[in-house]
Amino acid sequence: MPIARPEEREILIRRAAIEKRVRDVARRIDRDFKGQRVHLIGVLKGACIFLSDLVREINLETSIDFIAVSSYGRGKESSGQVRVLKDLDSSIAGLNVILVEDILDTGLTINYLLRVLRQRRPRTLRVAALLDKPSRRLKPVKADYVGFKIPNKFVVGYGLDYGERYRNLKDVWVLHLPADGKEP
Ligand code: IMP
Ligand code: MG
Repeated sequence: MPIARPEEREILIRRAAIEKRVRDVARRIDRDFKGQRVHLIGVLKGACIFLSDLVREINLETSIDFIAVSSYGRGKESSGQVRVLKDLDSSIAGLNVILVEDILDTGLTINYLLRVLRQRRPRTLRVAALLDKPSRRLKPVKADYVGFKIPNKFVVGYGLDYGERYRNLKDVWVLHLPADGKEP
């Protein structure tokens, strides 16, 4: 797999720390929804790895679905416009929904998705985000479950991509992008 040169990337969060934190988040979900079913909705594609690990740590009755929204495309800046590209397979009316995101950045994506999903009358609607970059927020959204708060750096790995690359890295890395915008 093509990967940035060593001087252009560094590990921010190691896989062992991620594993531990995912278990912690699952324990909190177990407690918060004791005796109930939770319906996890992964925001494609970035959340697929986090959701896969999280759902296996949850000791409740679970179901999963996925939604895809227009994203940053190949670059690193949000267009600010969000659009549903792939909708849910089934109704969420009456369900305990947990929207699972890879990272909260400007908050535009989650803000939009929460508005869309709320209209579909779930019983409860919460957000689980592996990473949170609070300094970049344009919309005031908060996740109920956050893995790690991180500084304003561009990160890849554990599902997060840059131009569709690096999703398979087991750790979360900071990518130092060249100022000319060319891919490393
Ligand atoms: P928001 O709408 O700005 O909150 O953007 C959220 C989406 O932007 C995430 O689901 C990611 O796909 C993408 N994103 C934001 N920051 C990063 C990053 O540092 N690395 C990779 N993708 C990012
Ligand atoms: Mg992305």
